[in-house]
Amino acid sequence: MAASDFPRCDETGAWKALRQHFDGAGRGFDVRRALRSDAARVQACSVQAPHVFADLSKNLVDPHADRLLLQLAQECGVLAQRDAMFAGETINNTESRQVMHFLLRAPKQGRAGAKLSAELAQVHETLDRMLAFAEEVRADSRITDVVNIGIGGSDLGPQMATIALEAFVTPGKRFHFVSNIDAHELAAVLKQVKPEGTLFLIASKTFSTLETMTNARSAREWFTRQGGTDVARHFAALTTNVKAAAEFGIARTFGFWDWVGGRYSMWSAIGLPIAIAVGAGRFRELLAGAHEMDRHFREAPPERNLPLRLALLDVWYRDFHGFNSRSVAPYHSSLRRLPAYLQQLEMESNGKRVDRQGRPLPFATSPVVWGEPGTNGQHAYFQMLHQGTDVVPVEFVAVKTPAHDLAEHHPQLLANVLAQAAALMQGKEDSGGHKHFPGNRPSTMLLLERLDPQSLGALIALYEHRVFCAGALWGINSFDQWGVELGKVLAKDIAPRLQSGDTQGLDASTAALIERLRG
Ligand code: F6P
Repeated sequence: MAASDFPRCDETGAWKALRQHFDGAGRGFDVRRALRSDAARVQACSVQAPHVFADLSKNLVDPHADRLLLQLAQECGVLAQRDAMFAGETINNTESRQVMHFLLRAPKQGRAGAKLSAELAQVHETLDRMLAFAEEVRADSRITDVVNIGIGGSDLGPQMATIALEAFVTPGKRFHFVSNIDAHELAAVLKQVKPEGTLFLIASKTFSTLETMTNARSAREWFTRQGGTDVARHFAALTTNVKAAAEFGIARTFGFWDWVGGRYSMWSAIGLPIAIAVGAGRFRELLAGAHEMDRHFREAPPERNLPLRLALLDVWYRDFHGFNSRSVAPYHSSLRRLPAYLQQLEMESNGKRVDRQGRPLPFATSPVVWGEPGTNGQHAYFQMLHQGTDVVPVEFVAVKTPAHDLAEHHPQLLANVLAQAAALMQGKEDSGGHKHFPGNRPSTMLLLERLDPQSLGALIALYEHRVFCAGALWGINSFDQWGVELGKVLAKDIAPRLQSGDTQGLDASTAALIERLRG
């Protein structure tokens, strides 16, 4: 059955029943009362997935809505769509591609199936070669700086993960991530490094992205201008476009495949900076953690299937409650790039306005995803979360065991994350107005035992599958990104006009801005 054969969420009986339920009792649901009156709620709303425990009990979902949401998943064939992905079917229909990032973390002797065994063999061949190179670089004390040049999925995943695993990074090497076409970023890094001590990783699935190619050319020019001679030793490419990398003059290339989406690629050669930072063994642990989550997603029954449960909440909040954003608050400083990573993962995947057949959708899709690490956010935007006019579901990510030994801090951090979730929910009566907290504001608590390669792998795979489930419910293709194209085309047209001053055919506002910038 093709993905397009499954009904869209709004075409199901469960959707109509949910609408009816929401317009009746659902909208007024009070989670405080539910927690007081239902002794089994916490247990019923707790899900233990590999390395990630989730307490969903503070969400605005009553048992009837919960049942209907699971029925919605059933009617939309979410788990059948999942099986189609894992079977290697061409579910990215607008680009005619398979979607198989799960294969990048599948063990050599796993259950990938005969159909995918050739791909799995290629994955392991590249992985072994890439990890051998990572170990070589780690052992080479002359290399002091690794500069990853890439953008979007070729930047956010490896950057987020290298920072998340900073406690495991072997000292002696510094890691830099350059993404922006704004050369303030590259220039600042080049000031800190020396050609003989630097390895540049040019990370680009297509090896054609404007920002990355411009930064790569400038880095190569800087390298030779500074007296660097051995480009082959100091540059490596991470790409599916091996030919373009060779044309650029890079001899050492680690490839991947068109069935790996950019925002799902940190498990592939794009993860090389992570592997250099933490070593081959720990990179394999990262993959193993993600694989455990893949198995959970494939095997757990719907009611205990964490990616599915989170996606159902996303649909419930977006399409019934009308909440248009979700805040992610990691209470671990090493997860400080998680919100940025999730912005691409979720919003580039599910920020769509048509279904798989190209029909406009009559309901909302991806929320805005945003956030900062706690407790910093508490002293910035949490005011709005507690007392603003919009309700924003918050997703807290907390870690039980810290990676430092400053004993006083961690209990305070954990007390704060628990207090924020409780305060959002409980609220506080005050007749004066300004000191009144409405409460009944929803949150999810994700708990990791510790932040290590395995738990990070599991957490990120959890998010990937949640995005998949939400896309499957909405009936959209989560794996293309046509929305980024128009701006790229217009920038190509505008760049020479900034030089020539030709504003013919442009809208009046853009034309006036060009004149001002040239003036
Ligand atoms: O922003 C669009 C996009 O294609 C992303 O999906 C991708 O991660 C990024 O650009 C970078 O692409 P590439 O890895 O091909 O340079």
